[in-house]
Amino acid sequence: MDLYEGLITRRSIRKYADKKIPHDVLEEIIKAAQYAPSAHNKQSWEFLVIEDKETLASLRVIQRWTSFAKDASCAVIVCGNLNNVFCRDKDGEKWDYADIDCTLASQNLMLAAHSKGIGTCFCGASPMPLVIDGLREKFNLPEHIRPVSIIVMGYPDETPIQPDNRYVAEKIHWEKW
Ligand SMILES: Cc1cc2nc3c(=O)[nH]c(=O)nc-3n(C[C@H](O)[C@H](O)[C@H](O)COP(=O)(O)O)c2cc1C
Repeated sequence: MDLYEGLITRRSIRKYADKKIPHDVLEEIIKAAQYAPSAHNKQSWEFLVIEDKETLASLRVIQRWTSFAKDASCAVIVCGNLNNVFCRDKDGEKWDYADIDCTLASQNLMLAAHSKGIGTCFCGASPMPLVIDGLREKFNLPEHIRPVSIIVMGYPDETPIQPDNRYVAEKIHWEKW
């Protein structure tokens, strides 16, 4: 699949066939995620792969908009490592780039999956404190690991309608606002 075509045709998939994604395919997809850009090239991401059906079904208790994960092949929880991220906590400044690094990795992951005929849906974790805490507790994540996204994945069992109204020329501001 041509890269530009992939960018335009990726849609969130929430219905999945009863078919596992082989581990070598999953590893190739997560490899692509690790080639995303990151602030100061810190590559602050970590990937927690969940395949257990009961665990997938239980995600909705922590993040209410993930009910369809029960039928997925897996979910990859993309986490930021706060011990290895471009950040600042001094002189009245407090910020880190973990969410942005991990979101870029998530997009690479989704596009790599799409190129292999695998559907994904980005489900948010950060910046929702209750979801972050819920995932930390459920998966025994240490304090320096912040779950940023839950990428639900599987072979598609739906063909989403491609929107024809995504491109809005007025959103481009040439030279001035
Ligand atoms: C930050 C963020 C959080 C999202 N969280 C959820 C979610 O919790 N559950 C869900 O079903 N979709 C979620 N989505 C997917 C969006 O609903 C989806 O991307 C949007 O409707 C556009 O559809 P498309 O991905 O097919 O282009 C999220 C997307 C983003 C970017």
